[in-house]
Amino acid sequence: MTISHNLLYIVTIFFTLFQLVFSLNEQMKTTPPLPILPLPSYSQLKWQQREIIMFFHFGVNTFTDSEWGTGHESPSIFNPTGLNANQWADTAAQAGVSLMILTAKHHDGFCLWPSKYTNHSVIGSPWKNGHGDVVQEFVNAAKARGIDVGLYLSPWDRHDSRYGQNKEYNEYYLAQLQELLNRYGGVREIWFDGAKGSNATNMTYYFNDWFSMVKELQSTINIFSDAGPDVRWVGNENGYAGDTCWSTINATSLSIGNASIANYINTGDSRGTNWIPAECDVSIRKGWFWHKSQKPKKLSELLDIYYKSVGRNCVLLLNVPPNTTGLISESDVQTLKQLRGAINTIFSFNLAENCHVEVSGTRGGKNGGFGPENVLDDDHLWTYWAPNEEDKENYWIEFKVKSGKIKFNVVRIQEAIGLGQRVKEHEVYVDGIKVVKETTIGYKRLHRLKLGIVEAHGVRIKIVKAKGTPLISSVGLHFDPFWKPKVDVTSKMVH
Ligand SMILES: *[C@@H]1O[C@H](CO)[C@@H](O)[C@H](O)[C@H]1NC(C)=O
Ligand SMILES: *[C@@H]1O[C@H](CO)[C@@H](O)[C@H](O)[C@H]1NC(C)=O
Ligand SMILES: *[C@@H]1O[C@H](CO)[C@@H](O)[C@H](O)[C@H]1NC(C)=O
Ligand SMILES: *[C@@H]1O[C@H](CO)[C@@H](O)[C@H](O)[C@H]1NC(C)=O
Ligand SMILES: *[C@@H]1O[C@H](CO)[C@@H](O)[C@H](O)[C@H]1NC(C)=O
Ligand SMILES: *[C@@H]1O[C@H](CO)[C@@H](O)[C@H](O)[C@H]1NC(C)=O
Repeated sequence: MTISHNLLYIVTIFFTLFQLVFSLNEQMKTTPPLPILPLPSYSQLKWQQREIIMFFHFGVNTFTDSEWGTGHESPSIFNPTGLNANQWADTAAQAGVSLMILTAKHHDGFCLWPSKYTNHSVIGSPWKNGHGDVVQEFVNAAKARGIDVGLYLSPWDRHDSRYGQNKEYNEYYLAQLQELLNRYGGVREIWFDGAKGSNATNMTYYFNDWFSMVKELQSTINIFSDAGPDVRWVGNENGYAGDTCWSTINATSLSIGNASIANYINTGDSRGTNWIPAECDVSIRKGWFWHKSQKPKKLSELLDIYYKSVGRNCVLLLNVPPNTTGLISESDVQTLKQLRGAINTIFSFNLAENCHVEVSGTRGGKNGGFGPENVLDDDHLWTYWAPNEEDKENYWIEFKVKSGKIKFNVVRIQEAIGLGQRVKEHEVYVDGIKVVKETTIGYKRLHRLKLGIVEAHGVRIKIVKAKGTPLISSVGLHFDPFWKPKVDVTSKMVH
């Protein structure tokens, strides 16, 4: 080898090494911050992302025009001659719903499946000559459309003679739970309430036994009750979460069927040691069961519910009751179509995408992987803007229009809850003027601006207080053409 060959050789090696180091440098990202406990479980995270789920109240009450049956109804009145669970599931799919929950048994004790432990069920009805099984048809229809299934089995039973005798009734209830959770494949949510007969104050529900059995039979199920353990009630049946709504709460302060916890479960607890997010149950009509005399709520009411449930860090459980034919009434189908259409209209376009983004600082600098560009991608959990830890309590992210102005009336902010819910206080400024001063964000927070439609050059979101560094996974500036604030001060902001 000549000297020049050697030199070329050395230069080549040096150059290769340089390239290697340079590319390694490019790949090396800053590590994510430590989580702030408690965290959601895998199943709770899946549940949260569903946003809207659907309840189907159906049973003897549908045929007696009542909300609470007496338990004395004859199974012979149950005859939904045109029952087609595919139509229910199509309705759910059209509404963008990924989980549908059925009242397998309501307080009247009538079972929508052929239970081995009672004849107060579809067995005694003329429907399909007593050979029908609504639960099976419900499950088949949902699964054929890729929709998950949930079930409600009322603890209160006004029919069964064992009700009131603790051992006998709890055995009966557990026997039915086993039937439902063994026979019908995967069940993703089970719904419990604490309702009791006023003449059965001594009746004790063995919730610990029930919950253990549920988890044994269905590993990815979420158990809903006033007190969780996986999903908690929001404390009312209007579909409204608290203005402040933490997914964290202290399980030790909760009990089922206890009216005095209604406010606590409505807002959660910033210092709570358990992750038990809230579900907002509400009916599309006044009643939970179908009544000929009732009509679905108006679109504006349903949107209000959406903003106060999904827009306050909760999942909306919307009840849509099948009628006596065994179908979802056309008026409900149309209303749901409108609701889904409206939500898509409002949120499919994000005006923030037309803006430059600036921030107070970024964890690991520009190329660390936590930059503000993450709030504009499609991942609302695992990519996020993480500010610089040193900027304590002075964190902000600002969107500046590239040219002209943007016209909007809704601000959407989301936290990367996979690392814990953190934000305690936040504010929104439009062209330097404070238009929102609120508390929690959570998975999703939606602010409809009280000012109405705003035309602006820039929007700044300030995180005023948080547990540790706030992690913002998504931000949206949207235009809601359906939103009519009570006082319309269109685009007039006063200093
Ligand atoms: C249900 O069973 C009870 C007790 O065995 C019996 O008295 C009743 O007639 C049965 N009802 C029906 C509808 O079969
Ligand atoms: C409770 O009252 C209902 C009537 O309101 C009755 O049918 C039922 O047998 C009573 N239950 C108990 C345990 O006394
Ligand atoms: C409830 O239990 C108490 C004590 O065991 C008993 O005295 C009372 O009669 C029971 N009440 C009912 C409604 O069964
Ligand atoms: C109901 O909740 C309150 C407030 O947490 C608590 O003090 C009370 O003991 C609870 N009652 C029952 C019966 O669990
Ligand atoms: C919840 O538990 C935490 C930790 O024990 C405690 O600091 C907090 O005060 C509790 N919240 C309430 C409302 O008692
Ligand atoms: C139930 O809804 C279906 C679908 O809209 C309709 O055809 C049927 O007439 C309704 N039944 C009753 C009793 O209203």
